[in-house]
Amino acid sequence: MYKTTREVRGLSPGDPARVRGWVYRHRDLGKRVFIVLRDSEGILQLVASEDSGSEVLEEARRASIESSIEAEGIVARDPRAPGGVELRLKSLRVVGRAEDFPIKGGESIDYLLDVRHLWLRSRRLTAVMRIRDTLFNAYRDFFRGRGFWEVSPPMLTQAAVEGGATLFKVDFFGKPAYLTQSAQLYLEVLIFSLERVWTLAPSFRAERSRTRRHLYEYWHLEAEEAWAGMEDEMRLVEDLVAYTVKRVLDERLEELELLKRDPERLEPSTKTPYPRVRYSEAIELLRRKGVDIRYGEDLGADEERILTEYYETPFFVTHFPLELKSFYMKPDPGNPGEALAFDLLAPEGVGEIVGGSQREDDYERLLNAIRSRGLDPRDYEWYLDLRRYGSVPHSGFGLGVERQLMWIAGLDHIRDAIPFPRFRDRIYP
Ligand code: 4AD
Ligand code: MG
Repeated sequence: MYKTTREVRGLSPGDPARVRGWVYRHRDLGKRVFIVLRDSEGILQLVASEDSGSEVLEEARRASIESSIEAEGIVARDPRAPGGVELRLKSLRVVGRAEDFPIKGGESIDYLLDVRHLWLRSRRLTAVMRIRDTLFNAYRDFFRGRGFWEVSPPMLTQAAVEGGATLFKVDFFGKPAYLTQSAQLYLEVLIFSLERVWTLAPSFRAERSRTRRHLYEYWHLEAEEAWAGMEDEMRLVEDLVAYTVKRVLDERLEELELLKRDPERLEPSTKTPYPRVRYSEAIELLRRKGVDIRYGEDLGADEERILTEYYETPFFVTHFPLELKSFYMKPDPGNPGEALAFDLLAPEGVGEIVGGSQREDDYERLLNAIRSRGLDPRDYEWYLDLRRYGSVPHSGFGLGVERQLMWIAGLDHIRDAIPFPRFRDRIYP
């Protein structure tokens, strides 16, 4: 039946082949028409000439850019064709003729967002989406291999996890509800039965500023483990990230090449352990580089970018001051001003891709932490219950899928790591 462009490239000269896809390039030289066909696997040159017959030649002329076509022909080698192989046509049918395609090259980023539904056909975005698929598969394989249960938390919630400032409010039959910022609290519920759980789901953040690394809707990989401390969790995170990078290097080299992403830059990140630096040391490193920052201040995108200059793999920043972090984090017993918390920062300027911690497992201390942050304990009654009925030391983390993809694919903006990014001024398409 039909062969993919990739399969045709593996055939021998003289072999017959049928293909289908979309017209990526079109060149009419009168006696010959060159079409570059695009399918989900790549591209292939098709040639209609007088040998193909006048009907085929006529149909090839009609096959405008982005028309869908079916074709049949004989494989031939030609060093001028992309991939060195072309198909000399015996038949051709335009399935859906395309009107004048609005994307011709050189359009503004804004315009390309307006026509995102068409721009997603670009080879560049196709390569990113294929790497994204590999990451999703790798996450699942990793957690299955480690004996974690995959669970499904709700997207509609009634309380904040990561602070009220970035909550999206929803009118839920006249009462306020929120789009989830993180599945964490629900994963914590589920460890009391399943012990080790994970999920991959959307999270929502009403971020106030527009940056290269923030989305309003993003995909969040989260895991939670009973009987695990911060160190256990960091080992889990580095194993996960190293494994997924390796999977991309094993399976998606062509896509990386198309994106002009040097695989050599990713190779060191397939090995663990990743470096660890305490927050207090990170402040020192930054001050040595002339950054005006003091202990107690948060690391922003700029500070993180500077820190990444010290490492060629992802690295952990640990033991943040308690006030900088969310209410659920456990203080370090040896140093109660600091949280048993870690961020994983990706190299090459990307910065934070994972946030995780050991959780406060003591009822009174958790209640105090909730109160001291001005939160209403009534909103967290069920969460507090977990500390009243068989509490257990536990830890977990969340990884921003688009952040990781941005790093791996070498993207300069997070919007291209997700097919349909949402923006404040446009929720289209
Ligand atoms: O650091 P965050 O806010 O941590 C949590 O939500 C924890 N409750 C997770 C947990 O322990 N289960 O978010 C986790 C990660 C960040 O490190 C970042 O990679 C990503 O989610 N992230 C975003 N990605 C894209 N756009 C945004 N607006 C993001 N906000 C966070
Ligand atoms: Mg964070």
